[in-house]
Amino acid sequence: MIEISHITRKFEHFTAVDDLSFTVAEGEVLGFLGPNGAGKSTTMKIITGFLAPTSGRVTIDGHDIAHDPIAAKSLIGYLPEGAPSYPDMTVRDFLEFIAEIRGFSGNEKQHRVNKVISDVGLDDVSLQTIETLSKGFKRRVGLAQAILHDPKVLILDEPTDGLDPNQKHQVRQLIRNLAKDKIVIVSTHILEEVSAVCSRAIIIARGKIVADGTPAELEARAPADFQTEQQIAPGRLEAFFRSVTEQGAV
Ligand SMILES: Nc1ncnc2c1ncn2[C@@H]1O[C@H](COP(=O)(O)OP(=O)(O)O)[C@@H](O)[C@H]1O
Ligand SMILES: [Mg+2]
Repeated sequence: MIEISHITRKFEHFTAVDDLSFTVAEGEVLGFLGPNGAGKSTTMKIITGFLAPTSGRVTIDGHDIAHDPIAAKSLIGYLPEGAPSYPDMTVRDFLEFIAEIRGFSGNEKQHRVNKVISDVGLDDVSLQTIETLSKGFKRRVGLAQAILHDPKVLILDEPTDGLDPNQKHQVRQLIRNLAKDKIVIVSTHILEEVSAVCSRAIIIARGKIVADGTPAELEARAPADFQTEQQIAPGRLEAFFRSVTEQGAV
């Protein structure tokens, strides 16, 4: 269980995350939605302990991320926004390095690295340096380092950003396969992704929660005057998203 309790993050006078509270339970795949600048990445950095909140607290299975960071972080796999930042390393060397940081050695290390390379489809590029990879493969390397220690909690910041439709499909499938008995929080502004992989969605705008429910519940709440010409599911979710996030909307 992740408990996020009244977290606020200010940058000078600007409030990026504004008194957010929610909990996520085992087995939930939570879609974290919101327009650009809504505060998604900032919230994820706070949950994973990369950024301190101005106030509020986060616990991962009872471990406070600020006061018990090693116990909390050992339960978390995190794919930050952007790509992994070790361009000169080969994919295999990078993943071995991460495995060592996560405390694996010897056969266990080799086994973990081999398994993750195969699970995310990196076999053909494992001896290439990261800088020579396409964007899609770089994202896969990011995913590989996040799941290598089989963490109970996965925090994925726009995992399909910049991927082509086939790669998006593969990553969504991977998330669905990983999700069993884990806690997954995945941010996106691609609404079709939410219906495809999430059991629950939270929409944030200007640092505050404006909706929380199953994708189907949120679609059903799309007001008539925001309905699009497309009445199929993604269109309805889009209508609801716009109704709660556009400036001036009720
Ligand atoms: N280090 C920072 N300094 C100042 N402002 C920041 C910083 N990080 C994020 N922000 C601002 O906080 C807001 C939320 O950013 P972010 O969490 O990245 O949004 P999202 O991921 O939803 O697009 C944005 O307006 C952004 O410019
Ligand atoms: Mg972001």
